[in-house]
Amino acid sequence: MGATSPRDVALDPSWVTADPTPLAPDHAQRIAELEALDPALADLYRRGAELLAGAPDAAALHERQVVLLGRERGIVTRGLAELPTLPVDARKTRGRGLNLVKRWLGEIEAARRLLLERAAEAQEAMDVTLPGRRPWIGRRHVLGVVKDELLDLFHGLGYSVYESPEVERDEYNFTKLTFPPDHPARDAHDTYFVSDDVVLRTHTSPGWVRAMEERKPPLRLVFPGRVYRAEQVDASHMDQFHQIDGLFVDRNVSMADLKATLNTFARAIYGAATRTRLIPVYFPFVEPGCQMDVECSICGGTGRVAGEAGPRRCAVCKGTGWIELLGAGMVHTEVFRAVGYDPEEVTGFAFGMGLERIAMMRYGIPEIRMFLENDLRFLRQF
Ligand code: PHE
Repeated sequence: MGATSPRDVALDPSWVTADPTPLAPDHAQRIAELEALDPALADLYRRGAELLAGAPDAAALHERQVVLLGRERGIVTRGLAELPTLPVDARKTRGRGLNLVKRWLGEIEAARRLLLERAAEAQEAMDVTLPGRRPWIGRRHVLGVVKDELLDLFHGLGYSVYESPEVERDEYNFTKLTFPPDHPARDAHDTYFVSDDVVLRTHTSPGWVRAMEERKPPLRLVFPGRVYRAEQVDASHMDQFHQIDGLFVDRNVSMADLKATLNTFARAIYGAATRTRLIPVYFPFVEPGCQMDVECSICGGTGRVAGEAGPRRCAVCKGTGWIELLGAGMVHTEVFRAVGYDPEEVTGFAFGMGLERIAMMRYGIPEIRMFLENDLRFLRQF
């Protein structure tokens, strides 16, 4: 080799190397072939190939390529430039060897460059085969589900929805529903007062008064909404809850119509075989007034459930076999008068039920407070 033998030129000894065989499967044969021609060229090739294969990124690869193959100061280029100074024989073998080294290192450099480019692209590219991330869209609240189901049912019976204000005049919440001022029936509704004559409605029944003042009979309406009572909060009482009232006004409406409607309703939500009963109850705005009970689904109406030490009292119906489902009755003639209807002409029935109670019975929810706690572990179950 001449004065500028390949070994003299700066190949940084700290550069990372790698096995070039994956880029050039015939790497070993190439070394053997060069070995036969000129062991120094075999060395140059091996070292160069390992350096190119080990280049960690495009910049390093370029740097190594310039040192090895650069057009002016590259080791191989300078070797080729020295050829004319060699004796003819040596010139031939050295020339062939250098050209092989140039071609093979060029190939390895190109293969490594392609690999680095692909890796860079893969990092930037969107992997369309990855499973998608499902956006969290939440779900309906259990009370919304129950409310819609009930509205659907009444829609099927010909009722439409009427919404009335949550902040209500005393007149509509009480007086026109024939709770006279200072009447003890008002005490049963522990009322939140906004001012002397404005309250948070204690039931959805004031909606009837508004609807009847606005519209002429016949009416078939349901009144869903939130109501408020200043209750001591416990497992079955909250100071806000939801009701749905229903109102049916026409000529010759009877208690039998009420009973048939309520039975249809009770059997739709609790099953076709469910037994019901009407028992008389006082409400100021209906006459007669009643309460509808359904057979307790927990004890099958017996009031007793199996316990470890023999039968014991059913905790859900408190041993009675019956669950109070709703209040109802024939609309009081005084209510008709208050809204300008003639009680000699029209009759009607009304009913009102609590949504929370229906949901608690249906799903076995033990605590009314759960509806408002916003605990996802609770809400996700429905
Ligand atoms: N509004 C009554 C209550 O909240 C329920 C009811 C409605 C009773 C309609 C009779 C008729 O207690």
